[in-house]
Amino acid sequence: MKSRLLLCALLIALTTSLSAQQPTAVPLPPMGWSSWNSFSNIVDSENVMAQAKAMASNGMQKAGYQYINIDEGWWLGERHPDGSFVIDPKAWPALAPGEKPGDMANIVRYIHSLGLKAGIYTDAGKDGCSMYPDLGPKYFHTGSEGHYDQDFLQFARWGFDYVKVDWCGGDKENLDPATQYAEIAKAIARAEAITGHHLYFSICEWGKNSPWTWAPNIGGSPADIWRTSGDIVAPIVAGHEHADRKVDFPKMLSNFDQGIHPEAQHTGFFNDPDMMVLGMPGLSDEQNRLHMSLWAISGAPLLVGADLTTLTPTSLATLTNPAVVAIDQDPLALQAVKIASPAEGIEVWSKFIAPSGHRAVLLLNRTKQEANISVQWSALGLDASRPVKVKDLWSGKELTATQDGYSAQAPAGDFAFLLVSGTETKPTHYTPAVSKVEKDAQVFANVTSNFEIAPVEITYTNPEPSTRFINLRVNEQTTTRVALPSTKTGKGHVWVQVLLDHGNKGNQLVFSNPCACGGKPGIETIAVQ
Ligand code: GLA
Repeated sequence: MKSRLLLCALLIALTTSLSAQQPTAVPLPPMGWSSWNSFSNIVDSENVMAQAKAMASNGMQKAGYQYINIDEGWWLGERHPDGSFVIDPKAWPALAPGEKPGDMANIVRYIHSLGLKAGIYTDAGKDGCSMYPDLGPKYFHTGSEGHYDQDFLQFARWGFDYVKVDWCGGDKENLDPATQYAEIAKAIARAEAITGHHLYFSICEWGKNSPWTWAPNIGGSPADIWRTSGDIVAPIVAGHEHADRKVDFPKMLSNFDQGIHPEAQHTGFFNDPDMMVLGMPGLSDEQNRLHMSLWAISGAPLLVGADLTTLTPTSLATLTNPAVVAIDQDPLALQAVKIASPAEGIEVWSKFIAPSGHRAVLLLNRTKQEANISVQWSALGLDASRPVKVKDLWSGKELTATQDGYSAQAPAGDFAFLLVSGTETKPTHYTPAVSKVEKDAQVFANVTSNFEIAPVEITYTNPEPSTRFINLRVNEQTTTRVALPSTKTGKGHVWVQVLLDHGNKGNQLVFSNPCACGGKPGIETIAVQ
């Protein structure tokens, strides 16, 4: 098929820093709870209600947590002759007068009645992960293959707001994930069109086939988040109890590392290092604070896997710390970048956050020895000739910095999570010519940069009522999809991060509209300031 690509005019503020423009609102990482880490595939109305009640009353809902996600185990793989799910009426009874037992809409109504949102789970293949024995029964056919339209329509009709789609069946059948998830994205879009109900779409393919390169690009209702690694909790040996589920500190750290793909995380699309283990038996309070700091600086989904009814006050305070949650939920919606690692296990991470001149910085000592860790303002892209303030995000205390940077003595395994506020170095603006051409025309920015990755502010207009999706290709890298929310009559400002060839080479940024749209441009105008 001859694709008609139409390049629209762009103002690209290619910067080593951020401007003072208000960011246009984009979706932020989801916050909530999921049944899997603590309950495995034994999940029913009673335990889901208890978790929802806990979230609504323990301060988590106020702190921004909202999803109650039912993972594997809600049905046992049996279908009626018409293909619809067989639901156990004992596990999912009527919860209010007039309701029918065995109707998943009952639990959704209950969750919604608390002001929370409801999530559900399926697999892209014929089987779900329950074919592999973990804790709980082994059963087959809990996937949606062959029933995509029917199942996603049913989820939307029941009122679910979120769907996680696993890959055990797809993997077993050797299916191609990009193809399969694209079919699902289309089925979700059709279900949304029929019901008018939006389904937040979470891909769980464990990072096996680099989903960050295709997940936001699959068309239909695009994936919102995608898993970047295997499960954060180890499977349980059969015969053991829920409470035996082992939380492994190194696995948590490795899931963080595997979740870092800053070029793919922007405008509402997120890498997902898995549900948190914070608050589950096995991590110390300090390790929990590090876990929360890592998820916050990477802008990860904050989906708590602990049993919310038994959280300690300290775990609860860690999950709801407003300054730390705000880093995760920063409106630029970008991901941290490792800006220095002067020795193995000594790391400096920085996340671009709003407003202008601000960074969240993590100094991390992963070694077994005490170490001095420092960060230079210049490495953060801040102007060292202007005052820079440093605050400890956990304690709220102001810290003393030098003219050029900040350094801390970090005991073995320790970290410092900092809010740095200063002045941006001057951004470099590139104003390519407005061009409207019928093929893959290019916006060429002859960027020379000392940085391997840089935030890019895109100024645009989108007068359409809904979000537009355009493609961005940097040099020869894989194309990423950028969401441009409606701006009505004004201008919008969204941020992405691009990987650059540094040195004297120019870097080519190509924005194009993949939409054929009946011959019309998908995006009518892109404002050039
Ligand atoms: C896979 C997923 C987990 C969970 C289980 C359910 O292992 O990665 O997050 O959903 O399946 O069986």
